[in-house]
Amino acid sequence: MINACVIGWPIAHSRSPLIHGYWLKQYGIDGSYTRRPVEPASLAAFLADLPQSGLAGCNVTLPHKEAVFGLVTPADASTKRLGAVNTLFLRDGHALGTNTDGEGFINSLQSSVPGFNITNERAMVLGAGGASLAVVNAILEQGASEVVVANRTLEKAEQLRQRFGPKVLPLVWDEAGDQLTECGLLVNTTSLGMKGQPEVGLNMSRLPAEAIVTDIVYTPLRTKFLVDATARGNRTVDGLGMLLHQAVRGFSLWFGVTPQVTDELHDLVARDIDPDYKR
Ligand SMILES: NC(=O)c1ccc[n+]([C@@H]2O[C@H](COP(=O)([O-])OP(=O)(O)OC[C@H]3O[C@@H](n4cnc5c(N)ncnc54)[C@H](OP(=O)(O)O)[C@@H]3O)[C@@H](O)[C@H]2O)c1
Repeated sequence: MINACVIGWPIAHSRSPLIHGYWLKQYGIDGSYTRRPVEPASLAAFLADLPQSGLAGCNVTLPHKEAVFGLVTPADASTKRLGAVNTLFLRDGHALGTNTDGEGFINSLQSSVPGFNITNERAMVLGAGGASLAVVNAILEQGASEVVVANRTLEKAEQLRQRFGPKVLPLVWDEAGDQLTECGLLVNTTSLGMKGQPEVGLNMSRLPAEAIVTDIVYTPLRTKFLVDATARGNRTVDGLGMLLHQAVRGFSLWFGVTPQVTDELHDLVARDIDPDYKR
């Protein structure tokens, strides 16, 4: 039997067990995937014990992604650049950390928008928090010419430029609408638009009609940001696809099967978010 889990603090909200549990059943694998609450003070001990714990690895969620990076060996250059880990796996009795959020973001776009390509295009990312790091890194790895990062706290957007280089253009939040011209991709990575939060409230009138608009917020599934973009004719992609696609590589590393993100899985998780969801 192969065991994996997700660690975080708190962890009760995580939908990862629903996703991995679906795949374990789908592929007939003798395995388990559970939630494990790990408080910050216990994180180092959890990681030290991981090779002997009987786990093949785990996902890492808030608030541990950056702390885990400092405590394990990064598995690849992209994770090193990012400074945050969301997936741990064992090799030769040693814990390695990687990050699948960026590929989850890109693979979600590619599966929703056939032919999606932002090479040599300008993108705008709203927000400069933890999720923005992975999104900005992934957009740059796809060869975008520049990524404008608009954030309420400008210093955090400036830190992204220090981390990723001069293709990142920090912008004050109030100027975001004016800078949308020539953007091929617009992404909301702020927590605005989540249930109980204020709306993004961006004036999109300068956004080209061909631009793709995506929100990584997935509660609700269709945020007002996406509804507004659809109403003005832009193609939109919701945030649930990123959540599903980021899970693929971890499952493959622990359980040895590369799983498919199917419509059935999408709808299962969508109904968990919104019981009235209909395709
Ligand atoms: N789809 C997925 O797989 C996925 C993955 C990860 C995260 N997410 C979602 O992404 C969102 C952000 O997560 P995170 O971990 O990056 O959070 P975070 O690190 O706390 O960052 C929050 C971001 O939102 C901005 N913000 C918050 N309130 C604001 C306000 N009133 N006005 C303007 N900006 C505001 C913050 O700006 P300041 O810097 O100025 O505070 C910051 O840029 C959450 O909704 C999360 O659920 C989705």
